[in-house]
Amino acid sequence: MKGKTLVISGGTRGIGQAIVNEFAAHGVNIAFTYNSNEELAKTQVAELETKYGIKAKAYPFNILEPEKYKELFLEIDKDFDKIDFFISSAIISGRAVVGGYTKFMKLKPRGINNIFTATVNAFVVGAQEAAKRMEKTGGGSIISISSTGNLVYIDNYAGHGTCKAAVEAMVRYAATELGEKNIRVNAVSGGPIDTDALKAFVNYEEVRDETAKRSPLGRMGQPADMAGACLFLCSDKASWVTGHTFIIDGGTTFK
Ligand SMILES: NC(=O)c1ccc[n+]([C@@H]2O[C@H](COP(=O)([O-])OP(=O)(O)OC[C@H]3O[C@@H](n4cnc5c(N)ncnc54)[C@H](OP(=O)(O)O)[C@@H]3O)[C@@H](O)[C@H]2O)c1
Repeated sequence: MKGKTLVISGGTRGIGQAIVNEFAAHGVNIAFTYNSNEELAKTQVAELETKYGIKAKAYPFNILEPEKYKELFLEIDKDFDKIDFFISSAIISGRAVVGGYTKFMKLKPRGINNIFTATVNAFVVGAQEAAKRMEKTGGGSIISISSTGNLVYIDNYAGHGTCKAAVEAMVRYAATELGEKNIRVNAVSGGPIDTDALKAFVNYEEVRDETAKRSPLGRMGQPADMAGACLFLCSDKASWVTGHTFIIDGGTTFK
């Protein structure tokens, strides 16, 4: 992995941050995006470069404006020679998900559309820009972070769960069409993972306790659990894995 480059959206917190740390620890250079946490991103860059001796750079980016990925990748081109991996991890919360993060009877097209844009459209445009560059250097690996909330019921998750189901389908289409360019495309789908996004759930404590109870491993998922799966999928050890959804749920989905 040493000397390769990862582009990842939402690298400042939660799962994205764990992925950044895991890849940097394996010698991968990191181009990550943030939305509101500029100071945190700057500190993170300095820490990554000092601790792991890799090149790191943070870029502001809003996944509600996916077309802007084109400009973002042009900026990244100035700082990095090539792109080997692209991971779409960022997710919206707060006002942007009003009418999307709610019960079925309260769903509103605007809320659902925002989540669709942030989940599916952002993956599509980001992956397209990454693939154009990977093609020139002989291939790469692309991942969309998904959620088992598209397989099992989670309170208020209809909007997100449906968009995660859609992005997993999009991953299979991308994988099928990009394989000839030696680009592998997969999804990593998590059960409940202890991050800020989960803490924003109105029933966070209930989800946390129920997850630990359901898991044969007796605990909640941690961001690092997702990062390990991403590292594997980007490594040569996964060289024949494409169009797949890798479920990291501590065994909770079956129970
Ligand atoms: N947590 C779970 O239980 C769970 C389970 C399965 C899958 N997932 C998925 O894992 C991914 C990461 O979730 P997480 O739990 O790690 O979230 P998180 O801790 O809330 O972090 C969200 C990240 O997205 C960025 N972000 C927020 N709004 C954005 C916007 N409008 N444009 C661009 N970036 C934005 C944040 O940047 P700033 O720091 O700058 O705000 C932050 O880096 C998501 O795709 C989520 O659906 C989560």
